[in-house]
Amino acid sequence: MIDDVKDLSRVEKEKKLSRKKFTNFLGKTFISVILSAVIISVFTLFIVNDFLSAFTVERALVTTGQFVSALLLFILLQIGVYKYTSKNGSSIRDFWLTSIMTLITYIGTMAACTLLDNLYAMPIALSTLVLIELIDRRTATLSTAVIGVFMMIAFLFADGTKVFDLSVAVSAIVCNCMCAVLINFLEHKHYSRLKFLIAAIFMPLAMQPLVVTLTLAHRDLSIQILWNVVWCYGANVAAALVFMPLVAIFEGMFNIADDFRLNELCNLSNPLLKRLASEAPGTFNHSLVVGNLSEACASAIGENPNMARCAAYYHDIGKLKAPIYFSENQSSYNPHDELIPEVSVSMITSHTLFGEILAKQNRLPKEIVAICREHHGTSPVGYFYRKALTLKEEGDLAVDKYTYAGPKPQTKIAAIIMIADTIEAAMRAYMPDTKDEYEARINKLVDEKLELRQFDECPITMGDIAIIKQTIIEVLPSIHHSRVNYDKKRKANR
Ligand SMILES: [Fe+2]
Ligand SMILES: [Fe+2]
Repeated sequence: MIDDVKDLSRVEKEKKLSRKKFTNFLGKTFISVILSAVIISVFTLFIVNDFLSAFTVERALVTTGQFVSALLLFILLQIGVYKYTSKNGSSIRDFWLTSIMTLITYIGTMAACTLLDNLYAMPIALSTLVLIELIDRRTATLSTAVIGVFMMIAFLFADGTKVFDLSVAVSAIVCNCMCAVLINFLEHKHYSRLKFLIAAIFMPLAMQPLVVTLTLAHRDLSIQILWNVVWCYGANVAAALVFMPLVAIFEGMFNIADDFRLNELCNLSNPLLKRLASEAPGTFNHSLVVGNLSEACASAIGENPNMARCAAYYHDIGKLKAPIYFSENQSSYNPHDELIPEVSVSMITSHTLFGEILAKQNRLPKEIVAICREHHGTSPVGYFYRKALTLKEEGDLAVDKYTYAGPKPQTKIAAIIMIADTIEAAMRAYMPDTKDEYEARINKLVDEKLELRQFDECPITMGDIAIIKQTIIEVLPSIHHSRVNYDKKRKANR
């Protein structure tokens, strides 16, 4: 009864907290939408209109219309971001980043084509490049569409202060948006920075025949064809060159785990990994093997393999607080021989909490911080629970005091790390001789986690778990350099 009351008050508190978080989230998104709409409208008034006349009675309706259009487009953009990123837990960071990149690209594009006096000089691909790297392809496409539509609105309702050929402007916008879409489809996210840059520089070449065709369609046979090609290509190359420093700035500013950053974090000369290698060599080796397994499993179920490898490398950094208390770092001396099971368990289970603290101190991406905390979920530390049971003379023993504090894995990658971690640790202690025994052991280890309901809070399916098990069965022997002995099995059968 008392437990039920406690549960109810906890559920009530969690509900209140999530309501508060949602309101806070909505408030910040609302501010980003209003701010973006104001900035884009004011800039448009400056660049293609006479700013002061925009507030006269005749132009007031057009000015209001432009502001409302900007507002609606940014609301649409934020709904898209929410839809596309909700699978990985939308964060206010994604909303701000999309708004900032859309604004920077719009301002840069309008400034370039009006100052250079060539409507084809539109580096619209800039937001595409940055957003496919830092968020995802669909958000990048939506941002390009918002920029394109608002540019058309801006040119359509320009007050005539500056003379634009509307049909040329529409052709240039279509052409540059198509160039951004082409980059979006063909650019490969897992390229190195240099390959990504080279691809971004060469891809716009494919759009140049369209620039020539559209210029000819306007019956312009002059040198203007050449200028249009030069400015269109030049603007896209400029976008590719600006993209690199912008990605580096946003990675640092928003602590984003894009593939470039994950590859850098996986470099074994990273200070935290170096510390793990020197202070806890057993844990370091274990993490590398878990990294290989997790990467293969993530690829097999369509998750980000770079994220899985990186999270695995750092999942046990919490053991740095007291490496000797973990079996993989012990040789002959085992400090647990001198401790009562309760103390041993608290020493072991605290590595998830300390790992979270250390990961935050080292500014690791939030996805990795979460995995440091979640990779054991609420599993019990079986060995010390059994030891405590043998020491206790009579009565039951509550298992709660011998379990990790949780939370359970919240993402598919956290679940992969939990499975790979459990299997690697068990197989390191004892590798079965026969294939059947080996597969049965892996199945048993995963079934135990399922029985403990460790995957209840993440979107992993039974199909995914079957693929993960099969991947580990195939990959683990080659990583451990150990072979399942088929001869023994044949002999046993005989
Ligand atoms: Fe761990
Ligand atoms: Fe581990």
